[in-house]
Amino acid sequence: MTRMGWPMQPDEEKQVREVYALCHPEQPARAPEWYWAYPTLVLIQENHVVGFTSFSLSPGPSGVLTLFGNDVCVTPDCQGRGFGWELAQARLEVGRTFGATTFIGITAVTNRPMQRIFERQGLHACQRLPGYFGAVDAWVWAGAL
Ligand SMILES: CC(C)(COP(=O)(O)OP(=O)(O)OC[C@H]1O[C@@H](n2cnc3c(N)ncnc32)[C@H](O)[C@@H]1OP(=O)(O)O)[C@@H](O)C(=O)NCCC(=O)NCCS
Repeated sequence: MTRMGWPMQPDEEKQVREVYALCHPEQPARAPEWYWAYPTLVLIQENHVVGFTSFSLSPGPSGVLTLFGNDVCVTPDCQGRGFGWELAQARLEVGRTFGATTFIGITAVTNRPMQRIFERQGLHACQRLPGYFGAVDAWVWAGAL
């Protein structure tokens, strides 16, 4: 039994950080206030956080609201079961609720699961960023919500 938690509760932050560390062992932990500066949804299975996604909302000068994706992480032993898709979809739904009409996100060119999620969401890879992840390039994904 899984459920989506929104917004992340203070007592869930430690588990979110553990999921991030398992998903990105090569990267330093996020800054102390990260998960509050970037609103975070959590996916909970039997009282444990097994995934999360963060985002920001940025209003443009003309009033267009853009949803910027920041991370989708699913703990390794729960990957490949559709949880990443569920989190990414829930993030778009929250963005739409706030009135966002545009999405922008970045992922490594080698990250096929994340690219599939963006493709299924109708987003497009629009700009390659050489060396964005050091040795690995990234794609900027964007589209209308
Ligand atoms: C990226 C990530 C969130 C995807 O979550 P997930 O729960 O494993 O993905 P899903 O089960 O929802 O599958 C999403 C798509 O990827 C495909 N997929 C899953 N694992 C795959 C793999 N190892 N290779 C290729 N495709 C794969 C699925 O078939 C699905 O595509 P489909 O809709 O065509 O069937 C997860 O792999 C993860 O946490 N990775 C580490 C952190 C990371 O890289 N995050 C993204 C950048 S911030």
